[in-house]
Amino acid sequence: MEKHSLAVNSHIILIGYMGCGKSSVAKYIANFSDLKHIDLDDYIVKREGRTISDIFNFSGELEFRKIEHICLIELLDSKEKLILSLGGGTPCYYDNMEFILNYTKNICFINTPNNILAVRLFKEKLKRPLLSLIDSENKMLEYVSKHIFERLPFYNKAPFKINSKGKNVSEISIEIMKMINL
Ligand code: S3P
Repeated sequence: MEKHSLAVNSHIILIGYMGCGKSSVAKYIANFSDLKHIDLDDYIVKREGRTISDIFNFSGELEFRKIEHICLIELLDSKEKLILSLGGGTPCYYDNMEFILNYTKNICFINTPNNILAVRLFKEKLKRPLLSLIDSENKMLEYVSKHIFERLPFYNKAPFKINSKGKNVSEISIEIMKMINL
């Protein structure tokens, strides 16, 4: 695929539950466009000088959500056009989703089946403070299914949605690029 020279006038934002592939897809899209990719979690880690797990463990989730909100606003205010991969919880706290929608309509929700997420996340659970204590794949599926159910009303506010079932990173990325006319 050729590298696109883009005349975009607003950021592109990827949202979705933990493990849906937001960062990998954003990296892929950045490679084929003139957009710079920033992952909100990575930005938080750099700015705070500590890991996401350390922020959760030593300052608590509420403090993490405050930092996440502030960092989101900093990135949305960037003059440079970005492709942003957000954290799974970002759209669901404060008025973050309304806020994002005021900046751009180029928001895509990557929707991945619960059972696929549960398998993936069980393998990577130590990277994510909300999941680290879950001790079986079945319990992971139960947790993920309930949690996604609560978060769907926020994710569904995205103007674009993609069902990632059976698709690899390049297929998902290409579909998103077509949808938002990249
Ligand atoms: C979270 C998702 C994580 C990270 C934090 C909380 C969530 O990001 O922000 O662990 O509440 O869903 P990823 O979705 O990139 O894993």
